[in-house]
Amino acid sequence: MNGPHPARSPVWHPFTQHAVMGNVPHIVGAEGAWLDASDGRRYLDAISSWWVTTHGHGNARIKAAICDQAGILDQVIFAGLTHEAAETVARGLVRLAPAGMEHVFFSDSGSTAVEVGLKMALGFWRNRGEIRTRILALEHAYHGDTAATMSVGARGVFNAAYEPLLFEVGRIPYPVAGQEQATYDALEVACRRGDVAALIVEPLILGAGGMFIYAAEALAEMARICRCHRVLLIADEVMTAWGRTGTLFACEQAEIAPDIMCVAKGLTGGALPLAATLATAEIFDAHYSTDRSRTFFHSSSYTANPIACAAARANIEIWETEPVRERIAALSVLQHRHSRRFDGDDRFANVRQLGTITALDVSASDAGYLAGIGPRLYEEFMRRGVLLRPLGNTIYVMPPYCICADDLQTIYVAIDDVVNALV
Ligand SMILES: Cc1ncc(COP(=O)(O)O)c(C=O)c1O
Repeated sequence: MNGPHPARSPVWHPFTQHAVMGNVPHIVGAEGAWLDASDGRRYLDAISSWWVTTHGHGNARIKAAICDQAGILDQVIFAGLTHEAAETVARGLVRLAPAGMEHVFFSDSGSTAVEVGLKMALGFWRNRGEIRTRILALEHAYHGDTAATMSVGARGVFNAAYEPLLFEVGRIPYPVAGQEQATYDALEVACRRGDVAALIVEPLILGAGGMFIYAAEALAEMARICRCHRVLLIADEVMTAWGRTGTLFACEQAEIAPDIMCVAKGLTGGALPLAATLATAEIFDAHYSTDRSRTFFHSSSYTANPIACAAARANIEIWETEPVRERIAALSVLQHRHSRRFDGDDRFANVRQLGTITALDVSASDAGYLAGIGPRLYEEFMRRGVLLRPLGNTIYVMPPYCICADDLQTIYVAIDDVVNALV
């Protein structure tokens, strides 16, 4: 491989154990669903590069928007100043989002979008003079890797070392099919304490925690319980938004309107880092005051970076002018067809699908994120030119929407062959 050997590269990669990682492929280009490496090898991006790439790598409209914006306005402080790209994106988000989302706060990543959402919820109650400081979160949740987002995420190997940084949250069982009542009961009990500021959920599917899917009715019922107890609902749509679950936002399927909604990843079509936290007028109004101590105290240097906003504006235009929903529906049908071939196959358990996402668990002696099979699967998929990055023994397929039928077939043939070879 031509790329720098990791031992000689100063780069420290995310979620990577360098001691057991072989050579890191050096990616020099990408188009559609494919990544090109410096040694001439190609990798089929079956996970949309950590779920960010929606329409495909190198989308022409997004690329052009980025180039144009770079020539007009590259960066400007966003405290006290504004610009057209951010204004257009904010209006677009309000237009597309569930009813009631009226204000848009920009940041740079999924984690920051969630941190902002949690801070908005706490600021809301404080500014209203009510003592509600407890956050509720689902078991198996993943909301990011900053201190607050780790706190609301499931505890485990990901964050054990950082425990001293984390705050305690109320943990609600995720709504397992057929056992949803346990979730509702736990939520009711927790809400009745009267000190709960917000419940944060990944709507319909818990992603990095294991690709656990739950019913839209369960999301609707959780929203109803929250509303009854005046507990704010934060929908973390960082993974689920922009079509992944079959609708633009996952919340649409439950016909709910959260109080706060976090989006990132596919907001720019996956081309540049940008995130947004959407909030109701009620949340905004609680911070709106001549008393400056009630200001929403959050910022980062690149808040609403104009080039990232231009990419997001182009993405929204794509959603509003191209048949993206039809592409997603077609991909969902294909995903169904391919994944169902593993139904009843002893090598796999829990073959599941939600919109464009499929997942299945490899029957292995150990499960969980550190399952020994995980890195072996990854290496073998990569050797075959397919970028699949299992979560332990859970393989998931989450490709960009431009993927063609033959390439999708290649992914499932690779799963079949690799699992045959390793299990
Ligand atoms: C549901 C959810 N929330 C938050 C995040 C964190 O996003 P980021 O990695 O952009 O900080 C992720 C990332 O995978 C996610 O899936």
